[in-house]
Amino acid sequence: MKEKMKSNIISAVNIRKEYIVKKHFITGKTKEKYVAVKGATFHLKEGETLGIVGESGSGKSTIGEIVGGLQKPTYGHVLYYGKNIKDMSIGEYENYRKKVQFIFQDPKGSMDPNYKISDILYMPLATANIVKNKKEAEKLIDEMLLRVGLDLKVKNKYPGEISGGQCQRAAIARALLVRPKVIICDEPISALDLSIQAQIVNLLKELQKKLNISYIFISHDIGAVNYMSDRILVLNNGNIVERGKAKEVLLNPKQSYTKKLIESAFIR
Ligand SMILES: Nc1ncnc2c1ncn2[C@@H]1O[C@H](COP(=O)(O)OP(=O)(O)O)[C@@H](O)[C@H]1O
Ligand SMILES: [Mg+2]
Repeated sequence: MKEKMKSNIISAVNIRKEYIVKKHFITGKTKEKYVAVKGATFHLKEGETLGIVGESGSGKSTIGEIVGGLQKPTYGHVLYYGKNIKDMSIGEYENYRKKVQFIFQDPKGSMDPNYKISDILYMPLATANIVKNKKEAEKLIDEMLLRVGLDLKVKNKYPGEISGGQCQRAAIARALLVRPKVIICDEPISALDLSIQAQIVNLLKELQKKLNISYIFISHDIGAVNYMSDRILVLNNGNIVERGKAKEVLLNPKQSYTKKLIESAFIR
């Protein structure tokens, strides 16, 4: 038990997220509370992939954003190596934000279209205090581009001038450059062609083996989540309704909601 507790990188403890939504103007009602996540508890261990699967709107992105520090929970808390992120010093919090990176569905949308890929990759390096000078940065950037399977020529291109798959590889490179412990992958392959999807998931797996990073892999596609993940959480309407080892959940789903997700993945 003690061993297990030691290896948790991230813990979400009973996190709940309420959004205040403005009601339709005709009804006259001003504000309403919408509960997107209803008390989620889970742990992410060193070197593992935790999958989060559920229908669109089930709260997956909200959970990812909360554990990565992009949003605050309404209740509950997030621990990074056992420390509540609310109790961190500025330095500790900056380190946590650096060590927990994101990859999103739309890599082009997550990059400033006015900057070349080389600048986009340089920016996080410069702010994270990882390199001494521009030359050292360039060397790291080149190594990383090759590692994610990109030609060095992409450095001089703008995000709009490369394919979606190439752009997602560049986004992976950007996330890796600051040496994260965790990458939250939020629907990282959903916008890509089927053949490219396989390349990207295999790249993520290969990088994980070499760099010992942990992933939270979020997708509506239970097939992709099972392929990537050691353990999965099934999310329905803001609640974790099923959890377990990926293979076991796929072979022996307990909930009809999970069965439905599996069926829809296979008829696609
Ligand atoms: N900023 C927001 N304000 C109000 N409602 C939101 C906001 N963000 C998400 N929601 C709602 O919360 C629910 C969960 O959203 P999300 O976490 O994005 O789900 P998923 O990623 O599983 O599709 C959805 O019903 C969505 O409309
Ligand atoms: Mg989402």
